[in-house]
Amino acid sequence: MKVDLTVNGTPISADVEDRMLLVHFVRDVANLTATNIGCDTTSCGACTVLLDGESVKSCTVLAAQASGHEITTVEGLASDGVMHPVQRAFHEQHGLQCGFCTPGMVMAAVSLLADNPSPTEQQVREGLEGILCRCTGYPNIVRPVSAAAGKAAAGQAAAGQGGVTA
Ligand code: FES
Ligand code: FES
Repeated sequence: MKVDLTVNGTPISADVEDRMLLVHFVRDVANLTATNIGCDTTSCGACTVLLDGESVKSCTVLAAQASGHEITTVEGLASDGVMHPVQRAFHEQHGLQCGFCTPGMVMAAVSLLADNPSPTEQQVREGLEGILCRCTGYPNIVRPVSAAAGKAAAGQAAAGQGGVTA
């Protein structure tokens, strides 16, 4: 079937199998491979992207369901080579070890801060609970997300990221 998605601002039309998952569309059709696949049970959140600004696990969404909608992956966050505030905070505050969960973690954090620009530590933890990290023990992830709070919305506005609700 034919699907029409906009991925990181680029319209992409393709004929795909009805059963194709959004994560496979992102990785194999759009050729954006930062979005990872870490399970086949909707458990890990490594595949998290934004669908019209809301975070979704892209292994639980069919490409066909996303047709006509805007997808943002971690590759679409930076603007003119300038990292999104959440990306910068992860970089500056060592919010990762192996990095496998990081694209999903960053996208979930961007969505969280769009909905709640000033979350408490508990709200950050709850907002990210769908994303699993096997390395950091989580404090190193909660800290940069809290540090980016407040800066993310401003950064989005400055960068003109239309696909992400600020
Ligand atoms: S790949 Fe694990 S939740 Fe999507
Ligand atoms: S940094 Fe390794 S899984 Fe999170």
